[in-house]
Amino acid sequence: MTRPASHTPTVQIVVNRIPRQVPEGTSVAAALAQQPPGTTRTSVTGEARAPLCGMGVCHECRVRIQGRIRLACQTVCVEGMAIDTDAGTAPGSATPCP
Ligand code: FES
Repeated sequence: MTRPASHTPTVQIVVNRIPRQVPEGTSVAAALAQQPPGTTRTSVTGEARAPLCGMGVCHECRVRIQGRIRLACQTVCVEGMAIDTDAGTAPGSATPCP
């Protein structure tokens, strides 16, 4: 028995200038986790950081989306979204998505 082909719609995003396809409805945090190195930023002491709480509390998932600092765990990927990791994500500068 064969499995039916997936008909899940996808959206194209651009992560660090590299185009990627992800299923529609994927959070930015999940999209980043699916590709190496799976991190969002580098701490001031040089440590790789990645989403921790997944609910908008820890701010470890700060990335730059369309030029603005956002929380990857609180942002859903949309067609053409440009995401940059390690791009000026200073502590306290994150803006949760509406
Ligand atoms: S993972 Fe904690 S705020 Fe996004």
